[in-house]
Amino acid sequence: MPAGTLGKLQTPLADGETRGASLSGFDRDFVVALSGTPRSISPKYFYDAQGSILFDRICELPEYYPTRVELALLATHAREMARHMGPGAEIVEFGAGSLRKVRLLLGAMERPARYLPIDISGEHLGAAARALRRDYPSLHVQPLVADYTRHLLLPAPRDGAGQRIGFFPGSTIGNFTPAEALHFLQMAAQVLRGGALLLGADLVKDPDVLHAAYNDAQGVTAAFNLNLLARANRELEGNFDLTQFAHSAFYNAPLQRIEMHLVSRRRQRVRVCGQEFEFAEGETLHTENSCKFTIESLQTLARQAGFAIGPVWTDPQKYFSLHWLSAPT
Ligand code: TRP
Repeated sequence: MPAGTLGKLQTPLADGETRGASLSGFDRDFVVALSGTPRSISPKYFYDAQGSILFDRICELPEYYPTRVELALLATHAREMARHMGPGAEIVEFGAGSLRKVRLLLGAMERPARYLPIDISGEHLGAAARALRRDYPSLHVQPLVADYTRHLLLPAPRDGAGQRIGFFPGSTIGNFTPAEALHFLQMAAQVLRGGALLLGADLVKDPDVLHAAYNDAQGVTAAFNLNLLARANRELEGNFDLTQFAHSAFYNAPLQRIEMHLVSRRRQRVRVCGQEFEFAEGETLHTENSCKFTIESLQTLARQAGFAIGPVWTDPQKYFSLHWLSAPT
Protein backbone atom coordinates (compact mmCIF):
# COMPACT_ATOMS: atom_id res chain seq x y z
CA MET A 1 0.00 0.00 0.00
CA PRO A 2 1.54 3.35 -0.97
CA ALA A 3 2.24 5.91 1.72
CA GLY A 4 -0.78 7.96 2.64
CA THR A 5 -3.33 5.39 1.46
CA LEU A 6 -5.76 5.03 4.27
CA GLY A 7 -7.61 1.79 3.61
CA LYS A 8 -11.26 1.00 4.19
CA LEU A 9 -13.62 2.57 6.64
CA GLN A 10 -14.01 0.49 9.76
CA THR A 11 -17.35 -0.65 11.16
CA PRO A 12 -18.17 0.45 14.71
CA LEU A 13 -19.16 -2.30 17.13
CA ALA A 14 -21.95 -2.05 19.68
CA ASP A 15 -19.66 -1.46 22.64
CA GLY A 16 -17.92 1.54 21.11
CA GLU A 17 -14.92 -0.43 19.87
CA THR A 18 -14.00 -0.39 16.23
CA ARG A 19 -12.77 -3.43 14.34
CA GLY A 20 -10.49 -3.10 11.34
CA ALA A 21 -10.81 -5.10 8.16
CA SER A 22 -8.40 -7.96 7.33
CA LEU A 23 -7.32 -8.90 10.83
CA SER A 24 -6.90 -12.54 9.99
CA GLY A 25 -4.56 -13.55 7.17
CA PHE A 26 -2.76 -15.84 9.64
CA ASP A 27 -3.62 -18.93 7.57
CA ARG A 28 -2.39 -17.45 4.30
CA ASP A 29 0.74 -15.86 5.79
CA PHE A 30 1.62 -19.00 7.76
CA VAL A 31 1.51 -21.18 4.64
CA VAL A 32 3.57 -18.60 2.74
CA ALA A 33 6.07 -18.55 5.64
CA LEU A 34 6.48 -22.34 5.64
CA SER A 35 6.74 -22.46 1.85
CA GLY A 36 9.64 -19.98 1.70
CA THR A 37 13.39 -20.41 2.02
CA PRO A 38 14.50 -19.35 4.51
CA ARG A 39 11.25 -19.60 6.46
CA SER A 40 10.13 -16.36 8.08
CA ILE A 41 6.88 -14.81 9.36
CA SER A 42 5.69 -11.43 10.63
CA PRO A 43 5.93 -11.06 14.43
CA LYS A 44 2.44 -9.59 14.55
CA TYR A 45 1.06 -13.17 14.69
CA PHE A 46 2.52 -13.62 18.19
CA TYR A 47 -0.29 -11.53 19.59
CA ASP A 48 -3.35 -13.72 19.98
CA ALA A 49 -5.00 -13.62 23.44
CA GLN A 50 -2.45 -16.08 24.88
CA GLY A 51 0.50 -14.29 23.25
CA SER A 52 -0.60 -10.93 24.64
CA ILE A 53 -0.70 -12.41 28.16
CA LEU A 54 2.78 -13.91 27.72
CA PHE A 55 4.06 -10.60 26.37
CA ASP A 56 2.81 -8.80 29.48
CA ARG A 57 4.83 -11.31 31.52
CA ILE A 58 7.95 -10.61 29.41
CA CYS A 59 7.59 -6.94 30.30
CA GLU A 60 7.86 -7.84 34.03
CA LEU A 61 11.02 -9.97 33.66
CA PRO A 62 14.20 -8.80 35.40
CA GLU A 63 16.23 -9.37 32.20
CA TYR A 64 13.83 -7.44 29.97
CA TYR A 65 15.01 -3.87 30.66
CA PRO A 66 13.20 -1.95 27.82
CA THR A 67 9.79 -1.76 29.52
CA ARG A 68 11.24 -0.71 32.87
CA VAL A 69 13.56 1.89 31.40
CA GLU A 70 10.89 3.34 29.12
CA LEU A 71 8.37 3.55 31.98
CA ALA A 72 10.97 5.38 34.08
CA LEU A 73 11.66 7.81 31.23
CA LEU A 74 7.95 8.48 30.87
CA ALA A 75 7.51 8.99 34.62
CA THR A 76 10.45 11.38 34.78
CA HIS A 77 9.63 13.46 31.71
CA ALA A 78 5.83 13.23 31.35
CA ARG A 79 5.29 16.87 32.31
CA GLU A 80 7.72 18.12 29.70
CA MET A 81 6.17 15.80 27.09
CA ALA A 82 2.71 17.02 28.03
CA ARG A 83 3.84 20.62 27.57
CA HIS A 84 4.87 19.77 24.01
CA MET A 85 1.42 18.30 23.43
CA GLY A 86 -0.44 21.35 24.64
CA PRO A 87 -4.01 21.44 26.00
CA GLY A 88 -6.83 19.32 24.59
CA ALA A 89 -4.54 16.94 22.67
CA GLU A 90 -5.59 13.45 21.61
CA ILE A 91 -3.36 10.40 21.70
CA VAL A 92 -3.30 7.63 19.09
CA GLU A 93 -1.33 4.63 20.31
CA PHE A 94 -0.06 2.02 17.83
CA GLY A 95 0.08 -1.50 19.33
CA ALA A 96 -1.37 -0.35 22.62
CA GLY A 97 -1.24 -3.70 24.51
CA SER A 98 -2.28 -3.36 28.14
CA LEU A 99 -2.29 0.48 28.14
CA ARG A 100 0.17 0.79 30.99
CA LYS A 101 2.54 3.35 29.51
CA VAL A 102 -0.02 5.85 28.31
CA ARG A 103 -1.33 6.33 31.84
CA LEU A 104 1.84 8.23 32.68
CA LEU A 105 1.19 10.63 29.78
CA LEU A 106 -2.53 11.01 30.47
CA GLY A 107 -1.80 11.81 34.10
CA ALA A 108 0.40 14.74 33.08
CA MET A 109 -1.64 16.10 30.16
CA GLU A 110 -3.85 19.15 30.30
CA ARG A 111 -7.44 18.12 29.43
CA PRO A 112 -6.65 15.18 27.12
CA ALA A 113 -9.49 15.15 24.58
CA ARG A 114 -9.49 11.57 23.43
CA TYR A 115 -7.42 8.39 23.48
CA LEU A 116 -7.43 6.03 20.49
CA PRO A 117 -5.57 2.80 21.33
CA ILE A 118 -5.02 0.53 18.30
CA ASP A 119 -4.17 -3.15 18.76
CA ILE A 120 -4.40 -6.37 16.77
CA SER A 121 -5.38 -8.37 19.88
CA GLY A 122 -9.07 -7.54 20.36
CA GLU A 123 -9.93 -9.30 23.63
CA HIS A 124 -6.88 -7.94 25.35
CA LEU A 125 -7.53 -4.40 24.12
CA GLY A 126 -11.20 -4.48 25.13
CA ALA A 127 -10.40 -5.48 28.71
CA ALA A 128 -7.59 -2.92 29.00
CA ALA A 129 -9.82 -0.14 27.62
CA ARG A 130 -12.57 -0.93 30.14
CA ALA A 131 -10.05 -0.70 32.99
CA LEU A 132 -8.75 2.62 31.65
CA ARG A 133 -12.27 4.08 31.41
CA ARG A 134 -12.88 3.19 35.04
CA ASP A 135 -9.73 5.07 36.07
CA TYR A 136 -10.28 8.09 33.76
CA PRO A 137 -14.08 8.54 33.65
CA SER A 138 -13.93 11.89 31.82
CA LEU A 139 -11.58 10.63 29.07
CA HIS A 140 -13.07 9.61 25.73
CA VAL A 141 -11.47 6.17 25.10
CA GLN A 142 -12.09 4.80 21.61
CA PRO A 143 -10.27 1.50 20.98
CA LEU A 144 -9.61 0.29 17.43
CA VAL A 145 -9.02 -3.39 16.83
CA ALA A 146 -6.90 -3.14 13.72
CA ASP A 147 -3.65 -4.16 12.06
CA TYR A 148 -1.87 -0.83 11.73
CA THR A 149 0.70 -2.36 9.39
CA ARG A 150 -2.09 -2.57 6.77
CA HIS A 151 -4.48 0.28 7.39
CA LEU A 152 -4.02 3.53 9.19
CA LEU A 153 -7.44 5.08 8.99
CA LEU A 154 -8.41 7.16 11.96
CA PRO A 155 -11.61 8.95 12.88
CA ALA A 156 -11.54 12.67 12.05
CA PRO A 157 -10.21 14.96 14.78
CA ARG A 158 -13.00 16.26 17.00
CA ASP A 159 -14.12 19.88 16.75
CA GLY A 160 -11.89 22.23 18.68
CA ALA A 161 -9.41 19.44 19.45
CA GLY A 162 -5.77 20.20 20.09
CA GLN A 163 -2.84 18.37 18.52
CA ARG A 164 -3.05 14.74 17.46
CA ILE A 165 -0.14 12.90 19.06
CA GLY A 166 0.95 9.44 17.95
CA PHE A 167 2.46 7.22 20.64
CA PHE A 168 4.55 4.25 19.51
CA PRO A 169 6.46 2.89 22.51
CA GLY A 170 8.21 -0.43 23.20
CA SER A 171 10.64 -0.16 20.27
CA THR A 172 8.04 -1.92 18.14
CA ILE A 173 9.48 0.17 15.28
CA GLY A 174 12.47 -2.21 15.51
CA ASN A 175 10.27 -5.23 14.73
CA PHE A 176 9.73 -3.93 11.19
CA THR A 177 12.23 -4.34 8.37
CA PRO A 178 13.92 -1.00 7.59
CA ALA A 179 11.64 -0.58 4.54
CA GLU A 180 8.52 -1.34 6.60
CA ALA A 181 9.67 1.06 9.32
CA LEU A 182 10.05 3.85 6.78
CA HIS A 183 6.66 3.06 5.27
CA PHE A 184 4.99 3.02 8.68
CA LEU A 185 6.57 6.37 9.62
CA GLN A 186 5.48 7.90 6.32
CA MET A 187 1.90 6.83 6.99
CA ALA A 188 2.13 8.07 10.56
CA ALA A 189 3.41 11.46 9.33
CA GLN A 190 0.27 11.70 7.17
CA VAL A 191 -2.29 10.77 9.82
CA LEU A 192 -0.56 12.94 12.45
CA ARG A 193 -0.25 16.04 10.25
CA GLY A 194 0.13 19.15 12.38
CA GLY A 195 0.84 17.03 15.45
CA ALA A 196 3.72 14.80 16.52
CA LEU A 197 4.90 11.26 17.19
CA LEU A 198 6.36 10.16 20.51
CA LEU A 199 8.47 7.15 19.55
CA GLY A 200 10.32 4.68 21.78
CA ALA A 201 13.49 3.07 20.37
CA ASP A 202 15.83 0.57 21.98
CA LEU A 203 19.50 1.44 21.63
CA VAL A 204 22.58 -0.50 20.52
CA LYS A 205 24.42 -1.68 23.65
CA ASP A 206 26.49 -4.46 25.25
CA PRO A 207 25.52 -7.70 23.43
CA ASP A 208 25.35 -9.59 26.74
CA VAL A 209 22.63 -7.25 28.01
CA LEU A 210 20.73 -7.65 24.75
CA HIS A 211 21.12 -11.41 24.73
CA ALA A 212 19.81 -11.80 28.28
CA ALA A 213 16.74 -9.67 27.51
CA TYR A 214 15.55 -12.24 24.95
CA ASN A 215 16.75 -15.36 26.80
CA ASP A 216 15.20 -15.03 30.25
CA ALA A 217 15.95 -17.61 32.92
CA GLN A 218 12.27 -18.47 33.50
CA GLY A 219 11.70 -19.33 29.84
CA VAL A 220 8.83 -16.89 29.33
CA THR A 221 10.31 -15.59 26.08
CA ALA A 222 10.72 -19.18 24.87
CA ALA A 223 7.04 -19.85 25.69
CA PHE A 224 6.07 -16.66 23.86
CA ASN A 225 8.01 -17.71 20.77
CA LEU A 226 6.63 -21.27 20.86
CA ASN A 227 3.09 -19.92 21.29
CA LEU A 228 3.18 -19.14 17.57
CA LEU A 229 3.18 -22.90 16.87
CA ALA A 230 0.56 -23.50 19.59
CA ARG A 231 -1.58 -20.86 17.88
CA ALA A 232 -1.17 -22.64 14.54
CA ASN A 233 -2.29 -25.86 16.25
CA ARG A 234 -5.35 -24.07 17.70
CA GLU A 235 -6.38 -22.05 14.67
CA LEU A 236 -4.95 -23.79 11.61
CA GLU A 237 -5.41 -27.46 12.50
CA GLY A 238 -1.66 -27.82 12.96
CA ASN A 239 0.04 -30.79 14.60
CA PHE A 240 3.29 -29.14 15.76
CA ASP A 241 4.94 -31.02 18.62
CA LEU A 242 6.14 -28.08 20.74
CA THR A 243 8.76 -30.22 22.45
CA GLN A 244 10.46 -30.73 19.08
CA PHE A 245 11.16 -27.02 18.45
CA ALA A 246 13.62 -24.86 20.39
CA HIS A 247 13.57 -21.13 21.10
CA SER A 248 16.65 -19.38 19.74
CA ALA A 249 17.39 -15.67 20.16
CA PHE A 250 20.78 -14.08 19.48
CA TYR A 251 22.28 -10.69 18.70
CA ASN A 252 23.34 -10.29 15.06
CA ALA A 253 25.96 -7.60 15.66
CA PRO A 254 26.66 -6.58 12.02
CA LEU A 255 22.94 -6.02 11.45
CA GLN A 256 22.41 -4.54 14.95
CA ARG A 257 19.40 -6.70 15.67
CA ILE A 258 18.17 -9.50 17.88
CA GLU A 259 16.93 -12.36 15.75
CA MET A 260 14.44 -14.82 17.10
CA HIS A 261 13.89 -18.24 15.55
CA LEU A 262 12.15 -21.55 16.23
CA VAL A 263 14.62 -24.36 15.52
CA SER A 264 13.57 -27.85 14.53
CA ARG A 265 15.26 -30.26 16.95
CA ARG A 266 15.15 -33.08 14.42
CA ARG A 267 14.02 -33.93 10.94
CA GLN A 268 10.22 -33.94 11.06
CA ARG A 269 7.03 -33.48 9.11
CA VAL A 270 4.17 -31.28 10.21
CA ARG A 271 0.64 -30.78 8.93
CA VAL A 272 -0.95 -27.37 9.01
CA CYS A 273 -3.75 -25.81 6.94
CA GLY A 274 -4.21 -29.21 5.31
CA GLN A 275 -0.67 -29.17 3.90
CA GLU A 276 2.48 -31.11 4.84
CA PHE A 277 5.83 -29.43 5.43
CA GLU A 278 9.18 -30.99 6.17
CA PHE A 279 11.74 -29.50 8.54
CA ALA A 280 15.36 -30.61 8.39
CA GLU A 281 17.18 -30.97 11.68
CA GLY A 282 18.29 -27.47 12.70
CA GLU A 283 16.10 -25.74 10.14
CA THR A 284 14.49 -22.59 11.51
CA LEU A 285 11.37 -20.50 11.23
CA HIS A 286 12.53 -16.90 11.69
CA THR A 287 9.86 -15.33 13.90
CA GLU A 288 11.17 -11.87 14.72
CA ASN A 289 13.82 -9.22 14.36
CA SER A 290 14.25 -6.56 17.00
CA CYS A 291 16.46 -3.89 15.45
CA LYS A 292 18.50 -1.70 17.76
CA PHE A 293 19.13 1.95 16.96
CA THR A 294 21.51 4.75 17.68
CA ILE A 295 19.93 8.13 18.34
CA GLU A 296 21.36 9.27 15.00
CA SER A 297 20.12 6.26 13.00
CA LEU A 298 16.62 6.72 14.40
CA GLN A 299 16.64 10.42 13.60
CA THR A 300 17.84 9.79 10.05
CA LEU A 301 14.94 7.38 9.52
CA ALA A 302 12.43 9.84 10.99
CA ARG A 303 13.74 12.67 8.78
CA GLN A 304 13.40 10.46 5.70
CA ALA A 305 9.73 9.96 6.59
CA GLY A 306 9.16 13.72 6.76
CA PHE A 307 9.32 14.34 10.51
CA ALA A 308 11.23 17.21 12.08
CA ILE A 309 13.48 16.16 14.96
CA GLY A 310 12.54 17.33 18.44
CA PRO A 311 13.87 16.50 21.91
CA VAL A 312 15.20 13.04 22.82
CA TRP A 313 14.93 11.62 26.31
CA THR A 314 17.31 8.86 27.38
CA ASP A 315 18.41 7.17 30.61
CA PRO A 316 21.91 7.63 32.09
CA GLN A 317 23.03 4.19 30.81
CA LYS A 318 21.72 5.06 27.33
CA TYR A 319 19.72 1.82 27.17
CA PHE A 320 16.55 3.28 25.65
CA SER A 321 15.37 6.46 23.94
CA LEU A 322 12.11 8.37 23.53
CA HIS A 323 11.91 10.76 20.58
CA TRP A 324 9.66 13.73 19.98
CA LEU A 325 9.11 13.93 16.20
CA SER A 326 7.04 16.73 14.74
CA ALA A 327 4.80 15.72 11.86
CA PRO A 328 4.63 17.91 8.76
CA THR A 329 1.81 20.46 8.65
N1 TRP B 1 9.21 -4.67 20.60
C1 TRP B 1 9.69 -5.66 21.54
C2 TRP B 1 11.17 -5.89 21.31
O1 TRP B 1 11.57 -5.96 20.19
C3 TRP B 1 8.93 -6.93 21.38
C4 TRP B 1 9.49 -8.02 22.23
C5 TRP B 1 10.02 -7.94 23.41
C6 TRP B 1 9.57 -9.35 21.96
N2 TRP B 1 10.42 -9.14 23.91
C7 TRP B 1 10.17 -10.00 23.03
C8 TRP B 1 9.21 -10.06 20.93
C9 TRP B 1 10.41 -11.32 23.05
C10 TRP B 1 9.46 -11.40 20.94
C11 TRP B 1 10.06 -12.00 22.02
O2 TRP B 1 11.91 -6.00 22.25
